[in-house]
Amino acid sequence: MVNFRVIAALGAAVANQVVLGTPLPLPADEAAPAAAKVKVMPFGASIASGCWRAYLWQKLQDNNIKNIDFVGTQKGGDCAGIDYDRDHEGHPGAQAKEFVDNKSLPGWLNSSGNPDVILVHLGTNDVINKTPTADIIKAFSTLVDQMRAAKSSVKIVFAQILPLADRFGSVAQKGITDLNKAIAVWGPTKSTVISPITIIDTTVGWNVTTDTDDGEHPNAVGSPKFAAKYYPATVAAIKSVST
Ligand SMILES: *[C@@H]1O[C@H](CO)[C@@H](O)[C@H](O)[C@H]1NC(C)=O
Ligand SMILES: *[C@@H]1O[C@H](CO)[C@@H](O)[C@H](O)[C@H]1NC(C)=O
Ligand SMILES: *[C@@H]1O[C@H](CO)[C@@H](O)[C@H](O)[C@H]1NC(C)=O
Repeated sequence: MVNFRVIAALGAAVANQVVLGTPLPLPADEAAPAAAKVKVMPFGASIASGCWRAYLWQKLQDNNIKNIDFVGTQKGGDCAGIDYDRDHEGHPGAQAKEFVDNKSLPGWLNSSGNPDVILVHLGTNDVINKTPTADIIKAFSTLVDQMRAAKSSVKIVFAQILPLADRFGSVAQKGITDLNKAIAVWGPTKSTVISPITIIDTTVGWNVTTDTDDGEHPNAVGSPKFAAKYYPATVAAIKSVST
């Protein structure tokens, strides 16, 4: 007996793939009903909105991790001609504290289908605006609570953030160092078994002169490097999601 419902579903899936211009799935075992895609949201300010997402997407595809959907209400830009899923939740200039004050994240999470994995790089603008470290950490806790309210099992990859060049001044540079130390202490206390927070250190081997053009944002050299820093924890988070 032919299962017409399955055929119709496959037809829709194939039509979808053609519209999106992505390669058709392979036959045989790969044609088994596809698992629901893991929704991955890059979240933060301008650094989160950058071209590293394209390199991360590409690296995931190259390693056959394709059951993913980058999500977010924002759509980011051309990156070295890479064909990638442009959705994200990076808001240039934004501070963690503003996201909390505006209560903007819950609506974005909802609009994005409540992400399974959230990749966070946030806090640079809070530091530049001289927000005390403890207040930034408090905002991070509220944002994590909002992520878990949307999806209790959300996996969070949380960055110790990129350094700033000398032109930002020693107070801002120290603010970044202090925040990164605080993130390393806070992360494990806020992490849970069902909703782990993995801290990644983006500062290792980073050179603000060669990896950025403006002393802050990853450039063409820095973007693939930054993506590589996210890659292992992102893969682990994606693989730990049961869809
Ligand atoms: C927060 O709201 C203010 C006032 O509406 C707006 O200017 C700002 O862009 C918002 N920031 C974020 C991060 O949502
Ligand atoms: C969440 O999104 C759904 C549609 O996807 C909508 O019906 C619902 O009102 C939204 N809830 C909130 C709290 O925004
Ligand atoms: C960064 O790169 C510049 C230019 O190549 C070099 O002079 C500098 O020593 C590097 N800094 C670090 C910390 O590696």
